[in-house]
Amino acid sequence: MGKRKRSVSPILPASSRQVGFVTMGTSAGGKKIKEIGVGMLGYAFMGKAHSNAYRKIQYMTWPPPLMPRLVAICGRDEVAVAEAARRYGYESYTTDWKRLVRDDRIQLFDNGAPNNLHAAPTIAAAEAGKHVICEKPLGRDAKESYDIWQRVEKTGVKHMCAFNYRFVPAVRLAREMLEAGELGEIYHFRSSYLQEWIVDPQFPMVWRFDRKVAGSGALGDLGAHVIDLARYLVGDIAAVSGATRTFIKKRPGGTVDVDDAFESIVEFAGGAVGTIEASRFALGRKNGLTFEINGSKGSIGFDLERLNELQVHLPGSRPGADAQGFRTVLVSEADHPFWKWWWPHGHMIGWEHTMVHELHHFIESIAKNKRIGPHGATFEDGYRTAEVCDAILRSAKSGRREAVQSLTGKPKAARKRVTAGSR
Ligand SMILES: NC(=O)c1ccc[n+]([C@@H]2O[C@H](COP(=O)([O-])OP(=O)(O)OC[C@H]3O[C@@H](n4cnc5c(N)ncnc54)[C@H](O)[C@@H]3O)[C@@H](O)[C@H]2O)c1
Repeated sequence: MGKRKRSVSPILPASSRQVGFVTMGTSAGGKKIKEIGVGMLGYAFMGKAHSNAYRKIQYMTWPPPLMPRLVAICGRDEVAVAEAARRYGYESYTTDWKRLVRDDRIQLFDNGAPNNLHAAPTIAAAEAGKHVICEKPLGRDAKESYDIWQRVEKTGVKHMCAFNYRFVPAVRLAREMLEAGELGEIYHFRSSYLQEWIVDPQFPMVWRFDRKVAGSGALGDLGAHVIDLARYLVGDIAAVSGATRTFIKKRPGGTVDVDDAFESIVEFAGGAVGTIEASRFALGRKNGLTFEINGSKGSIGFDLERLNELQVHLPGSRPGADAQGFRTVLVSEADHPFWKWWWPHGHMIGWEHTMVHELHHFIESIAKNKRIGPHGATFEDGYRTAEVCDAILRSAKSGRREAVQSLTGKPKAARKRVTAGSR
């Protein structure tokens, strides 16, 4: 998506805006559109969400950069994966991911498998010349993430780590405001990602509670999303202090050996300080990813459960000198990020649409040979996030503040802070 020119005027006359009521269905096309064959590993949560997005890309973003052709989907349970293929619209299915890797009809390999199955299939697919998108966390720790990044980078294919919250319109708008310097110097990034789904001690063991499969718990699952957003919005993290807890260790079916929750203080290379926490034990919180950023000129706040809104406070803004404070910006105008593809303003979109934006970005980067960054997360970004996760685990163990360590020395694209065009 091209860079928008940000308006200096806070209010545009309605007549000058393409509000969507009269523009639906006007997209032009006509040219022949090349196909790209998709091979999807995993048919459950992410398999379903990504497949839904591939189908919506051509429906909503006409003409798409390439036409996703759903070639094959893979899962362990043959009956279930066969049904998933029928339901989502794949031409074939398999229970062996190596068959996706060998399949010449596939040019895009999408890994939505559990974390222990990120490395081998993703690397094999890239080495077979397929572009690869892999769910987060990239690997189970920094070392594994580094290996995935390095081995895939060598093949020359496009690679993207599926940090889909970069593709929320309000988050992209926040990034645009930060790049434009509208918040001034950044002092704080305060954030949490809270869910409630495992408070019940009778909730059974699943792969997410097993370190061999998942790598870590709330940290790699939820924290990784927020760490990636922190890096995307504010810049690289230099040091952390962390604490982790496993509240319920024995569950029906096994022993939990990952964190149920973590808390951390983070120090950014650019001087800002902040907090990042995540938990699956926060009763009442369903998918509560929130952040607030405070700078010398203003503050913004975001809540994923209200993802079409951005809270903005710019001191001294007019009118309303006596009514200062956060105001709610409804991020749904036709000229807001990604909104050209959707509905008239105020006709809201949701979580699933972040995947449409993300996969459109990936396909467009392939079609036009464009960079995945700075707006898409590359495998380097997946690895950099894993470095921060590892540092939080080290700090929780040592009880000390820990520097974020890099296997490469300095990050290739180290950013003290986000500036226009960074990465
Ligand atoms: N970006 C996000 O918002 C988000 C949300 C949830 C999960 N995730 C990530 O997506 C990945 C998958 O999570 P999920 O929630 O979809 O998991 P899931 O348990 O719902 O689905 C896992 C899928 O992998 C398949 N699978 C497992 N082992 C296999 C094997 N050996 N061979 C073939 N297929 C196999 C299963 O059949 C299933 O279809 C994880 O890395 C997770 O961290 C990302």
